[in-house]
Amino acid sequence: MTQDKVVIFDTTLRDGEQSPGATMTHAEKLEIAGLLDDMGVDIIEAGFPIASEGDFNAVSEIAKNATNSVICGLARAQLPDIDRCWEAVKHAERPRIHTFIGTSPLHRAIPNLTQDEMAERIEQTVTHARNLCDNVQWSPMDATRTELDYLYRVVEIAIKAGATTINIPDTVGYTAPRESADLIAKLIENVPGADEIVFATHCHNDLGMATANSLAAVEAGARQIECTINGLGERAGNTALEEVVMALKVRNDIMPFQTGIDTRKIMNISRRVATVSGFPVQFNKAIVGKNAFAHESGIHQDGMLKNAETFEIMRPEDVGLAGTSLPLGKHSGRAALRAKLEEMGFDVGDNQLKDVFVRFKDLADRKKEVFDDDLIALMRTSTDTEDERLKIEKLAVRCGTEGPQVADLVMDIDGTRHMTTQTGDGPVDATFNAVKALFPHEARLQLYQVHAVTEGTDAQATVSVRMEEDGRIVTGQSADTDTVVASAKAYVHALNRLLVRREKGGSDKREVSYKDAT
Ligand code: KIV
Ligand code: ZN
Repeated sequence: MTQDKVVIFDTTLRDGEQSPGATMTHAEKLEIAGLLDDMGVDIIEAGFPIASEGDFNAVSEIAKNATNSVICGLARAQLPDIDRCWEAVKHAERPRIHTFIGTSPLHRAIPNLTQDEMAERIEQTVTHARNLCDNVQWSPMDATRTELDYLYRVVEIAIKAGATTINIPDTVGYTAPRESADLIAKLIENVPGADEIVFATHCHNDLGMATANSLAAVEAGARQIECTINGLGERAGNTALEEVVMALKVRNDIMPFQTGIDTRKIMNISRRVATVSGFPVQFNKAIVGKNAFAHESGIHQDGMLKNAETFEIMRPEDVGLAGTSLPLGKHSGRAALRAKLEEMGFDVGDNQLKDVFVRFKDLADRKKEVFDDDLIALMRTSTDTEDERLKIEKLAVRCGTEGPQVADLVMDIDGTRHMTTQTGDGPVDATFNAVKALFPHEARLQLYQVHAVTEGTDAQATVSVRMEEDGRIVTGQSADTDTVVASAKAYVHALNRLLVRREKGGSDKREVSYKDAT
């Protein structure tokens, strides 16, 4: 018997990317959209075209490149927003306009609209969107805190005006699973025309219930789940795509619904989103966390060796993780490295492999065994060497119990060698001061983050930095067995990206946010 399909609507590039600090570059957005399209995501919400030039360009380009997915853009309940959104998504083979307005009493108070005035605005804007595009989604923002009678009324208006999907957002992550199901069931039962459209569920994870709420909504009749990779999103994030998709797959016995997602592509995109957004995945995160398939205690390992099903409800390879984890060493060749990376779910082109192999050899010379996590760190590290105007040639740092620490730095800047010695409050501070002395700049360091990749004192550290200058936000990453060297390289990586951004002009500053709903 065929099962009902649940449409997967991914909003990593809109709701996820709009969360403070998760800004992605244009090229990164295109790459992530390509991966989403390739893994079978039905609808990609590619951005909020009116918000900035950058958002508009990204949505247009993603729309032009999409092969399978519907490409959707977000628009407030204003005619210029909807027009701008259409201008961006119209290039897609299958475009969608998603327009919304906050309908709860708190949200109605912001534009100071009465219930009737807001109803009129909804009618006018959904009609306008539908005149431009056959595929229109409408959302009553903060639906879960909107008076039920009013919600019925506005949903009916939106359906009559031509909306083909009605999305019910739990904007503040307040709902519990039973309420989420009840609300969808009541809407289906009480709103005229409800059987002609698709209901969607859009949950935020403030109380850790986003996945449960989304699945409950599906059981009650919703057929579209809105989600993001790794649950990326403001505050506690959105429903995680990998969680709902794997829950529907693994518990298909009690939730008999299909998605079109190739689950073996999950790990690769999870890692890419973590890298480009600068938001690492927590170790014990369901499905994609580093420990999600690790079995460390003696009892577990013994059981696993006898029968993997003892402690495993899904196979690592189902989400794109290799089954075994034998480390590579300095004698491993390029073919072994490629095989290992592919087994781990990375798609590596020849040029990228060449670059990673050089860095792998360098690491293997310093570290006896190179584990999967070391390789992930190598893959996370920059490969955009053609844009490197700044290069670190030599770094030596003197530390001791008596401060200050001293950094001697030699850098190549646009082909000329420069050197300096600077002090600082700690080795990283001294190093960053030295970089700044050789390459003065006003960019503000917004984030500096260090992670140990594996256990042991020879472990690599991965460092991420995020910097901001005149509204442009850039991130830099690097990995090294020396934390200070990794920090210096990550800092310089971010500066190189900033130089590219300066040349291109433009800013990441958004004129509006979806919170300015009216
Ligand atoms: O959370 C929310 O309400 C949203 C809307 C714009 C759909 O993201
Ligand atoms: Zn949202």
